[in-house]
Amino acid sequence: MSSDATFSFSPESLDRARQILARYPEERRASGVIPLLDLAQRQNDGWLPRPAMDAVAEFLEMAPIRVYEVATFYTMFNLQPVGRHHVQVCTNLPCWLRGSDEVVEGCRKSLGIDLGETTADGEFTLSEVECAGACVNAPVAQIGDHYYEDLDGDSVAAVLEALKRGETPRHGSQTGRQTSAPSRRPDDAEDGDGRGLMALDDKDRIFTNLYGQQDAGLAAARGRGDWDGTRALMDKGRDWIIDEVKESGLRGRGGAGFPAGVKWSFMPKESDGRPGYLVVNADEGEPGTCKDRDILRHEPHKLVEGCLLAGFSMAAEAAYIYVRGEFYDEASALQGAVDEAYAAGLIGPDACGSGYAYDVYLHRGAGAYVCGEETALIESLEGRKGQPRMKPPFPAGAGLYGCPTTVNNVETIAVAPEILRRGGTWFAGLGRPNNTGTKIFCISGHVENPCNVEEEMGIPLKELIERHAGGVRGGWDNLLAVIPGGSSVPLITKSLADTARMDFDGLSEVKSALGTAAVIVMDKSTDIVRAITRLSRFYQHESCGQCTPCREGTGWMWRMMERLAEGRAEIAEIDMLHEVTKQIEGHTVCALGDAAAWPIQGLIRHFRPELERRLAGSRLGAPDADPDHRR
Ligand SMILES: Cc1cc2nc3c(=O)[nH]c(=O)nc-3n(C[C@H](O)[C@H](O)[C@H](O)COP(=O)(O)O)c2cc1C
Ligand code: SF4
Ligand code: FES
Repeated sequence: MSSDATFSFSPESLDRARQILARYPEERRASGVIPLLDLAQRQNDGWLPRPAMDAVAEFLEMAPIRVYEVATFYTMFNLQPVGRHHVQVCTNLPCWLRGSDEVVEGCRKSLGIDLGETTADGEFTLSEVECAGACVNAPVAQIGDHYYEDLDGDSVAAVLEALKRGETPRHGSQTGRQTSAPSRRPDDAEDGDGRGLMALDDKDRIFTNLYGQQDAGLAAARGRGDWDGTRALMDKGRDWIIDEVKESGLRGRGGAGFPAGVKWSFMPKESDGRPGYLVVNADEGEPGTCKDRDILRHEPHKLVEGCLLAGFSMAAEAAYIYVRGEFYDEASALQGAVDEAYAAGLIGPDACGSGYAYDVYLHRGAGAYVCGEETALIESLEGRKGQPRMKPPFPAGAGLYGCPTTVNNVETIAVAPEILRRGGTWFAGLGRPNNTGTKIFCISGHVENPCNVEEEMGIPLKELIERHAGGVRGGWDNLLAVIPGGSSVPLITKSLADTARMDFDGLSEVKSALGTAAVIVMDKSTDIVRAITRLSRFYQHESCGQCTPCREGTGWMWRMMERLAEGRAEIAEIDMLHEVTKQIEGHTVCALGDAAAWPIQGLIRHFRPELERRLAGSRLGAPDADPDHRR
């Protein structure tokens, strides 16, 4: 870490820093550490010399060591100089399946540098990053604050050449497709069964602007029904809101599927003097998952209205929306909606004219998947490293700032207003008992048209892929395996995918899970061992290091997976690896340990013969028996 530079905040940065601190309670200045480090980094050409961290420490009245430990924990903080353009290519599984190797190669050729290097003129730095949360637009690279999507080797080179000429290339999809939409829009055409492309009826769709075809602002959102009769819903009372949400059967959309209304009812009925908080989890870092991104950028008013109604039902004083740091454009869109809602009196000291005072604040993270775990998120929001807490106490008893807190996923909160307007029984009538409602599915990998789509819970996996994603590349029979719920859940093979239903119970019947409903499709060209090895590397990278089985175990598992992928192992090591996964599963502070173990268990369960085949050819230490680097 270089310490020879000097740094002091500019007057503009100081003004901005004061505005940032106004979001947090007076005595909780440390909450400002991530935003202020970001501010300092932006002022200092994209990196943080020691004096910049010291300036943050001084401003926040924090011990400098506390600021250094935050700066070193989060991947978005650069402790060494970086190029004027920081090119960060995602190489996690969904991007790898769609050609991130070619994108890296295109960058190498265009810039003449390797990963981790900076061009001699200091203009470009090239790095590899974990899932950027835009997997249905894979492969993706983040350059500065913006995402460049649907890339290949040529299009990334074209973007870089434009930057070299001093131009500002258009960000977003480089193939001109409509954000994350299926190539044929749901309402474009009728399919064979005459129902149109959606199995879900249009009238039951909640996210009518998921693809941003209309404006995200307040006037257009009102036109779509947002903020319609919000005050009247509040007038029905707190218990009514919680009862309706219970009645709807809505289960949390962040992965664990805990019933939302039940969670809200855990908040204290009577205040003991401590304020209560709603914390919205917009950290979205689970590879394959990019649904909350579309809500933040295209349907932000649904989220802000949901924050008000959910917060009101639990007598919270404010909502903090924790948005992953990489989502710069998405956070800007959301902040626009929050500002509009304040200006219209929908939130603030007299929310919707109800007399109820309620604030909504945004807080951006800085790159750490583990911060999606709800207690790590709270730690991070309080201004520390994102290390999960031991439970109990649960957040409803002692969460943010030691106060009663409910943490919910973006989608969970964003669907609440529509449930309340139409009634819990409407939502409960969609899907199946215990698996009700609609859900945004993310379909990535080897399909013709990767996309996000809102569908009815319980839709057959095959129908989901064929209706919306244009089918598996090369046809259904070319399917090898599917990870149906984000990178943390075990894969299923084609024979199970033939009949699997996309809901909690349907996927547990095939020994997998709905998770975040992120469907990663792999066709028969996939090197399945390499694919799961890539996920093992991700979990090793993201472990917060706090508990031994996860810290050590994720590294062991990754190294063993590398050896299996290269065919440099004994067959007995397959069982040994399985045993390691069992020693980690259920023995860690948070579920990241389980998440690291399950994909490997799924691989061994379904692909043991493939593992054995590789190892049989390489007993004598020969390199990979099948060196064909298939994707
Ligand atoms: C390692 C890890 C990462 C997680 N990441 C996210 C995330 O990005 N978004 C999210 O909503 N939940 C995430 N979760 C789940 C949260 O801990 C929590 O269950 C969720 O935010 C609760 O919201 P819900 O009840 O609305 O689903 C993660 C959990 C773990 C263990
Ligand atoms: S399981 Fe891993 S990520 Fe979770 S607390 Fe333990 S070390 Fe940290
Ligand atoms: S954006 Fe690349 S894997 Fe998710």
